[in-house]
Amino acid sequence: MVDYGSQYTALIARRIREAEVYSEIVPATADLPQILAHNPVGVVLSGSDSSVYADGSPELPEGLIESQLPVLGICYGHQLVAQSLGGAVAGAERREYGPAQLEITDPGHPLFSDFPATTRVWMSHGDRVILPPPGFEQLARTANSEWAALGRENLILLQFHPEVSHTQLGHALLRNFALRVCRARADWTPSQFVSGTVSEIADQVGEGRVICGISGGVDSSVAAALVQRAVGDSLTGILVDTGMLRLGEVPELRRALGQQLGVNLITLDAADQFLGPLAGVTDPEQKRHIIGDKFFDVFIQHAEELGGAEFFVQGTIYPDVIESAAAGLGSAKIKTHHNTRIPDRLHLGLIEPLRNLFKDEVRAVGLELGLPEEIVWRQPFPGPGLAVRILGEIDADRVATLQLADHIWREEIAAEGYDRAVAQYFAVLTGVRTVGVMGDSRSYGELAALRAVESDDFMTADWSRLPHELLERAATRIVNEVNGVTRVVYDITSKPPGTIEWE
Ligand code: XMP
Repeated sequence: MVDYGSQYTALIARRIREAEVYSEIVPATADLPQILAHNPVGVVLSGSDSSVYADGSPELPEGLIESQLPVLGICYGHQLVAQSLGGAVAGAERREYGPAQLEITDPGHPLFSDFPATTRVWMSHGDRVILPPPGFEQLARTANSEWAALGRENLILLQFHPEVSHTQLGHALLRNFALRVCRARADWTPSQFVSGTVSEIADQVGEGRVICGISGGVDSSVAAALVQRAVGDSLTGILVDTGMLRLGEVPELRRALGQQLGVNLITLDAADQFLGPLAGVTDPEQKRHIIGDKFFDVFIQHAEELGGAEFFVQGTIYPDVIESAAAGLGSAKIKTHHNTRIPDRLHLGLIEPLRNLFKDEVRAVGLELGLPEEIVWRQPFPGPGLAVRILGEIDADRVATLQLADHIWREEIAAEGYDRAVAQYFAVLTGVRTVGVMGDSRSYGELAALRAVESDDFMTADWSRLPHELLERAATRIVNEVNGVTRVVYDITSKPPGTIEWE
């Protein structure tokens, strides 16, 4: 899968993987030997924001067509192949954007195996092919595009986007390309991944010892479970309890990873080491820095005490790898995060068993490994923990107050079955002091805010339209059960313009 910069590139790779065929993304700058190093059975060329006419627009890898590999060009990829093989591409006066009815004119083509005569597709393009290159035949057309799909042997070019959900049979089309045109093996399944990865890790580690930081997130839990399967007791999982985890987090992880999966897990109770330096700090970025640095110190100190580890497990996943490659960092380097310095500092070999997986694949692997659903379907939790949800100064009392309010909110959401539908939900201590009435007397406590958002990628988010009864129950319970909270509000800000977290 060659990435020409389309916003849909990762989606194409995911759709192909959903057909149980492994697919990887390479940047448009990759040359043919770099592509062949991945042993592809076929190549997909993505769309792009560029026009094939623009100066410096990305080109086809030299020798790709001559390599005889099956090629599927999508949108920009389609125009690029057509142009370079002698066809003509013209700029349309205005972009064609939206649905179109595709009429299949070559129903015997393997790409359209089991397709009806017409199907809805999604268009999003400026340029279009107006004259096909020699030897290419029309495979399908729309009212606006005579050459919506064209092909010559195993070169197939599509004007529309099969990867987006608006294209009705897009999944089937990509599956047909992978299985019927490229003759790929459908063996990309969680169980195959687990067995292959487990034996690779066992070979890499040998008799060595391995440590893994457990954050409580899905990725580090699945990574630890996978490595445990490969090396058993040679793995030690290290869970740093910063004192700012959610209520019940440590026992839940101990139960799921330790007791159920047999991961050798050490919990470092480091609350004082974090709360001390945070005293009096109100600036969110300063809070983040202090926690990042402390985390690093605590981890290094104890890893050295544990002694003798040769490998460090990190839960890097594929979107991090793609993001770093797109930012020109090269796929070996991962985005800046305080964890990434740990293996460097300790001179440990790095094991990143999930670096080729998308998030949904990480979850499928977690279930395959027997991780409980509560861990596999966890909502994201920020590295700095509850610290960025306590506005103003942090102390142990305010942490305990927030933990309880947050726990009630999570309990009520789960009781109504919204815990999967809502992408992220939590409570915030706002630092605003407010008056209330408790029994016969006035109370003066803090304002808590509840947040619940829906989001696919956490880059944008919409506030969740939860039932009023649910909001009411949670608010009543929080004011009644949490000492120090006198009032509750529900945050109805979307992102943008807001962010998901308050700090
Ligand atoms: P925002 O608040 O920027 O958050 O809309 C987007 C997503 O990122 C999480 N988040 C963090 N995660 N360290 C993390 O590991 C952080 O400092 C941090 N800040 C925000 C947030 O929970 C949401 O899922």
